[in-house]
Amino acid sequence: MLSTGKMFSNVQGAAEVLRGGGLVAFPTETVYGLGADAENPAAVARIFAVKGRPADHPLIVHIATPDQILHWAREIPTMAWHLARRYWPGPLTLILRRASCVPDIVTGGQDTVGLRVPDHPLALALLKVFGGGIAAPSANRFGRVSPTTAAHVREELGDAMDLILDGGPCHVGIESTILDLSGHQPRLLRPGAITLAEIEAVLKQPIAQPGNEAPRVPGMLRSHYAPKTPVCLIPPAYLKAEVRWHLGQGQRVAVLSRIALLLPDACLWKGMPDYPAGWARELYARLRALDVQCFDYILIEAPPIGADWQAVRDRLERAASAHPISSPRSSRGISAPFGEVGDHSVN
Ligand code: TXA
Ligand code: MG
Repeated sequence: MLSTGKMFSNVQGAAEVLRGGGLVAFPTETVYGLGADAENPAAVARIFAVKGRPADHPLIVHIATPDQILHWAREIPTMAWHLARRYWPGPLTLILRRASCVPDIVTGGQDTVGLRVPDHPLALALLKVFGGGIAAPSANRFGRVSPTTAAHVREELGDAMDLILDGGPCHVGIESTILDLSGHQPRLLRPGAITLAEIEAVLKQPIAQPGNEAPRVPGMLRSHYAPKTPVCLIPPAYLKAEVRWHLGQGQRVAVLSRIALLLPDACLWKGMPDYPAGWARELYARLRALDVQCFDYILIEAPPIGADWQAVRDRLERAASAHPISSPRSSRGISAPFGEVGDHSVN
């Protein structure tokens, strides 16, 4: 933990880097961001280069306080103010019609801008000292698992940044909920820790769900958030048989599950929490740790269908879709809820 004095000098230094057109990786409550001055197109261009991200994929602009919406957006609906008041600082990104000051490179040429106030003391201190908006995607290479510690950022992006602020592990662990308020009806673009039901309760109206339309944004690509090792989601009732099947093929597998499994040496089992926020907090760090151990497969117990699990399920399904495989399991689907089975040990 940084002392207040040390934290302040780091934040001052980071703000200087941003003012000079540099890149600063910083913690948020969701995942680490790779930040640049949102009103400096050359600095923002460096983010795209470092991430290897296609230029038409927009970035979120992080701001210090809700009233800064007025600087970045126009035609702001009352709904936006309600949600900002209720959830900011917090893991909710609002898509609004952009103001003229927002550079094209930030929005991928769209007429909208994504805004959020992150809920992390270092991020808020940086935003306050810097004074402007910070454009920041997750601090990982395009398509890969988002970082939830400063060490993840260092491992993945190395020296490509000018400075990394270390704020410890992110307590939410998956990216923010994204809600599009730029059209006729509010639309969920990406599920996150703030659920659809919570937003509907605040707005007192139904929210449109993500559809299967062509991806408009990178987070909507099927194979986003993927480790290099193939991931398979397995209904709990099939987990034991699935492990056996892989072992029978002479493969090494790692298993992430809520249910305890007694496994042979060729497998590694990691227990996961039995509630969505716990899964979200641990998921990316677990995937990263397993990804460097050269398993043939990472088998993951499919989460339940319930609304509370929507965000975790979304990230897992994307991770699993990066390496489509054909095996007996692919015809089973992933819809079986937790708790269908009694004995999960592998003998
Ligand atoms: O939790 C988060 O949202 C993290 C932290 C760092 O804030 N950021 C993050 O950024 O996940 P990134 O770039 O990895 O994902 C941002 C997503 C894009 O994939 C896109 O879906 C959406 O934000 N987005 C940004 N601007 C948008 C816009 N104008 N219209 C539609 N979607 C937009
Ligand atoms: Mg990302």
